[in-house]
Amino acid sequence: MTTLENIIIELTKNPKTRPIDENALDFGSVFSDHMFIMEYAQGKGWHSPRIVPYGPIPLEPAAMCLHYGQEVFEGMKAYRAEDGTINLFRPDENFKRLNLSNDRLCIPEVDVDFCIEATKKLVEVDKDWVPSAPNTSLYLRPFIFCHEPNLGVKAGDQYLFVIIASPSGPYYKEGLNPVKIYVENTYVRTVKGGTGMAKTGGNYASSLKAGVEAHDQGYSQVLWLDGIENQYIEEVGAMNIFFRIGDEVITPELSGSILGGITRKSVVALLQKDGYKVSERRISISEVEEAHKNGQLKEVFGTGTAAVISPVGILKYNDNVMEINNQEIGELSQYLYDTLTGIQWGKTAGPEGWVVKVC
Ligand code: PLP
Ligand code: COI
Repeated sequence: MTTLENIIIELTKNPKTRPIDENALDFGSVFSDHMFIMEYAQGKGWHSPRIVPYGPIPLEPAAMCLHYGQEVFEGMKAYRAEDGTINLFRPDENFKRLNLSNDRLCIPEVDVDFCIEATKKLVEVDKDWVPSAPNTSLYLRPFIFCHEPNLGVKAGDQYLFVIIASPSGPYYKEGLNPVKIYVENTYVRTVKGGTGMAKTGGNYASSLKAGVEAHDQGYSQVLWLDGIENQYIEEVGAMNIFFRIGDEVITPELSGSILGGITRKSVVALLQKDGYKVSERRISISEVEEAHKNGQLKEVFGTGTAAVISPVGILKYNDNVMEINNQEIGELSQYLYDTLTGIQWGKTAGPEGWVVKVC
């Protein structure tokens, strides 16, 4: 049984230089001094949890993850409040979702409470890496992969669970300024019954080609449509999506092919609490085009841990380039950004259990 007391801590003898200008931090390119690792072996379960200096992980060329992509991951952040306290946001949701992804990818389940404690421990060890500049945080990336050397196509018997930490700034160079999104009409990301509801590398690998083509046309990310009728809106490459049409705020329902975002869930809860009419339902691109034509499409924004709240200023579908809210930050997007980050950075109290103190 893995318990907190079992976590061996080996501190680095060569601490790295931390980023000097926190305001210049980008997303996910600098890594802290330590990482958490534990191993899984069939018959033994998860074992040998440890925090060690951040560095390369030995991998055999035959490691199954390299060939058949048996891998899952999570994304969460540690936030430094004004009084210096460091908090996590809804970490239980991340590790519950990790288990959903594990189940889909035939990876053994992890203990949610233990994972939260391991994350807290890693953040505590690397607490000086949690930045304090506005809109920065320590991005945490838990991931699991099959490192067993074997070329048979099957679920492996050996896994590594790792958490790395990266002091990060905004995911988009635009920050909170509206982004341009390309509605994909050729490629599909996943279909019902596929792996869309899991956070697994393959979903992202298969999205790259569309992303490159959208980038070449000046768009930040792709908005995916459903893989069967090519009509219904799913999600963006790294975030869920919301539309404010008239007095209704709509986000696509969790149909099995999109990720159940924790930011999405939190935004729905915040809007409901504030009395907004929020619908989790099917929404087609034709409905969005129609609402835009009639002047009813007030705002579009994405939600995600990395992206936070990201207003959309342009949505392009075939030849229809829809400008939204004069490409300005919408009132609701701004309100949600302020409310959510206010809770995350400990400026305002959020619902019970959302903020978990590390140290
Ligand atoms: N959808 C995809 C494909 C994502 O990669 C992410 C990011 O994690 C999200 C949605 C948003 O999820 P969350 O709010 O839990 O970060
Ligand atoms: C996150 O928001 O945490 C994500 O995992 C998005 C990532 C693909 C950049």
